[in-house]
Amino acid sequence: MPNAEGLMTTAYLVAGVLFILSLGGLSKQETAGRGNTFGILGMCLAVVATLGHPDILGLTGNGEATALTIGYSVVLGSTLVGGIIGVLLAIRVQMTSMPQLVAALHSFVGLAAVLVGFSTYLSSGAAHGAEEVARGAEHYVHDVEIFLDVVIGGITFTGSVIAWLKLDGRLSGKPLMLPGRHLINAVMALGMIGLCVPMMFIPEQGVLYLGIAAGISAILGAHLVLAIGGADMPVVVSLLNSYSGWTAAAAGFMLENDLLIVTGALVGSSGAILSVIMCRAMNRSIWNVIFGGFGAGPTGPAKVVEGEMTEIETDEVLELLQTVKRVIIVPGYGMAVAQAQQAVHSFTRTMREKGVEVRFAIHPVAGRLPGHMNVLLAEAGVPYDIVLELEEINDDFADTDLVLVIGANDIVNPSALDDPNSPIAGMPVLHAWEATNTIVLKRGRGKGYAGIVNPLFLRDNTRMYFGDARDSMEKLSAGLRSTKAA
Ligand code: TAP
Repeated sequence: MPNAEGLMTTAYLVAGVLFILSLGGLSKQETAGRGNTFGILGMCLAVVATLGHPDILGLTGNGEATALTIGYSVVLGSTLVGGIIGVLLAIRVQMTSMPQLVAALHSFVGLAAVLVGFSTYLSSGAAHGAEEVARGAEHYVHDVEIFLDVVIGGITFTGSVIAWLKLDGRLSGKPLMLPGRHLINAVMALGMIGLCVPMMFIPEQGVLYLGIAAGISAILGAHLVLAIGGADMPVVVSLLNSYSGWTAAAAGFMLENDLLIVTGALVGSSGAILSVIMCRAMNRSIWNVIFGGFGAGPTGPAKVVEGEMTEIETDEVLELLQTVKRVIIVPGYGMAVAQAQQAVHSFTRTMREKGVEVRFAIHPVAGRLPGHMNVLLAEAGVPYDIVLELEEINDDFADTDLVLVIGANDIVNPSALDDPNSPIAGMPVLHAWEATNTIVLKRGRGKGYAGIVNPLFLRDNTRMYFGDARDSMEKLSAGLRSTKAA
């Protein structure tokens, strides 16, 4: 095929630009739909261009389509099987279980990188110590590329599996704090990197050294994530996202595939930037998260919190709603579990029609994945301009008549500010307690993700409105409509 390589390079370049436009679009709610479309177009183009690769078409050499059937059967067969599994998983997964799914998918990226790394190494002939392989500088560089691909892939694979087990509740969220763990990590990392040298210079045993390095990288990945506590898991998901990007970039160098390098670098760097942003939002050090408990943690037991929760009934909430002028809604994980976003939107519309100012306060780690609340509210049709980030709205709680906390807990816990021994000490939280009244909608006295008591629920100006968030919001909307009609 004339100039097939050139066409493919151009297609990869255009796909790369579409991925960059996609990331740019995804940075704002208003342009997120467009960003997604660019991403889909880029991926379709990349897949079509890859299917047209001369190696897969079998058009290399004498131009006969010798490998056509085999190449396409393998690619299409695996795409079909993988696609069916992916579609089934995507249909079945709950939005609240997305972090687990993302972690599981990252583990596949890591495993694929390890397998492709070994396959490239074995097929290059280097592993057999074959004399026919001229071992010039180019080969050493290629060996390093393979080595990096395998070890980054190994860390990503086991790290993601452990993250999946923790996020899915199959493994305790408690950090594993082995004595001298930083030294153990350093020795493993140095030993692993050192194995690259014999792998390059003793090719007859190269596969053995690569295998040992892969084994160490797998242990290192598992150990790094095991040392990370439950409160830091939101950042781990985005860190693993970053690792999977760097794995793909390393694979791109190894396979001389420009698109993999560009896409991997985009995913790697955007994941790293998101991790840093999330760390700042939670007042955590990124090194503390990466190496698990690096530096000082709580030095004593958390404060004992005592007091009684005061309940409120639907009629009393409705009475209060007739008197308020400024309301802030704080949505959290419970709103997602209850799928209450439509009911919340309908409540908001009715209140605004009555002339009440209603705004939403979004905490950066509300729910179980970055942007979780924004996605749910946008899906329900809540206008973007009344949905504000923590730093935009946190000073306004003191001027607010009523705060409705809907299925949120940790993100409105004042212990983060006044108890240095709290597991969430230092995390910025929404100052819901500063409002004249606070009503908390939750099913019962259950704790939040961090598993700690929330003193907000015991304050004099807080009332607990128990029940499923969706049922409660539907009751309030119906009550508001009937008082409006009367
Ligand atoms: P949480 O602290 O997890 O609290 C959610 C509350 O919702 C619970 O106390 C629960 O109380 C209530 N709830 C559950 N189902 C409900 C339902 N059907 N109706 C009404 N209420 C319901 O949530 P949050 O305040 O959003 O904080 C998020 C937490 O998750 C943070 O600790 C964060 O670090 C962590 N995390 C976040 C992420 C990301 S990236 N966002 C990822 C992993 C972990 P009841 O059981 O009493 O109803």
